[in-house]
Amino acid sequence: MSILITGGTGGIGVGLAHELVARGEEVVLFDIAPQTERLADIRDKVKIVQGDLKVWPEVLNVVKENEVEGIFHHGSMLSLPSEANPWGAFQVSVMGTMHVLEAARLFGVKRVLFASTDATYGLGTADVITDETLQRPITIYGANKLYGELLGRFYRRKFGLDFRCIRYCTVLRPGIKTPALPMFVPWMIEHAALGKPFECFVAEDVAAPVIYYPDAIRATIMLYYAPEEKIKSVCYNLSGISPTPTAKQLEMAIKEIIPDAQVTYKPDPLVMEYYRTRGVTTIDDRRAREEWGWQPEYTDYKKVIAHFIQEVRENPQRWGLA
Ligand SMILES: NC(=O)c1ccc[n+]([C@@H]2O[C@H](COP(=O)([O-])OP(=O)(O)OC[C@H]3O[C@@H](n4cnc5c(N)ncnc54)[C@H](O)[C@@H]3O)[C@@H](O)[C@H]2O)c1
Repeated sequence: MSILITGGTGGIGVGLAHELVARGEEVVLFDIAPQTERLADIRDKVKIVQGDLKVWPEVLNVVKENEVEGIFHHGSMLSLPSEANPWGAFQVSVMGTMHVLEAARLFGVKRVLFASTDATYGLGTADVITDETLQRPITIYGANKLYGELLGRFYRRKFGLDFRCIRYCTVLRPGIKTPALPMFVPWMIEHAALGKPFECFVAEDVAAPVIYYPDAIRATIMLYYAPEEKIKSVCYNLSGISPTPTAKQLEMAIKEIIPDAQVTYKPDPLVMEYYRTRGVTTIDDRRAREEWGWQPEYTDYKKVIAHFIQEVRENPQRWGLA
């Protein structure tokens, strides 16, 4: 039996693959554009299948051929590519999720963990969001992900699939290549660490909730392996760094380590519309804490910035930056 990760060679997928291999699981990575550089150390321990979530037979086939018992469904187009191509995003994120859930039902997969997002919250939110906050996303990315959450809940109720879902905020790590609305946070730190100037595409007062990569991976693994009786809410907010720093506070903290870091501000109207409409700065994740014992380790942004810069400088190859 194996565990399948869709979007498996993407940023989060690679981290999950390392954890699952360390646990002795057989791991299959399904990805439309497999990247192997961050898998070098476990390349002989994982199977990589090139395939497209939009193509249902490809999804069916990877599940059937590998006797899959659990799926981490992380394949997706992220926010900015989805905004640029909403038609393609619908096919990948809505139809792709349907394909995964239906393959799971047909081939008796026990558990599906779905990667959702805090972008499922939008209109009418206060600056703090809880698991009870009304989800009214303003982007096609958020709307597609919210449908995935609801579809998964339906499969859980109707077909008894053990569906679980985690709502990440921005996952902070070096080496992110996929553009997304809040990527000003990791890119500002990474540019400084590499000695490059950074033109920040949000205003100085914008604050986007973030979680450090090791915490995001650990939470996902914790949720996947949590005993069934602990899962009550099914979909869970996840908070990491708290309080959330503004872009300017990030810049100042970076400059405590790299005084000559160069940051300028040229807010992008599209990105600013998103932040001005939503205004979420704090994520309340008490359901995850109460139900399956979640507790972030990396909560202080200054410590995370220091660790991030150290990683870029000492382990560039680990993050595809060499
Ligand atoms: N990184 C974040 O900050 C963040 C925040 C919230 C939610 N998420 C969600 O977590 C998941 C993983 O994010 P990530 O940071 O690893 O993103 P990523 O872009 O690094 O990885 C996504 C992977 O999905 C693959 N993919 C895209 N379209 C596909 C298709 N049609 N068929 C098969 N594979 C396809 C890509 O090739 C890529 O390797 C995504 O579902 C994302 O929406 C991420």
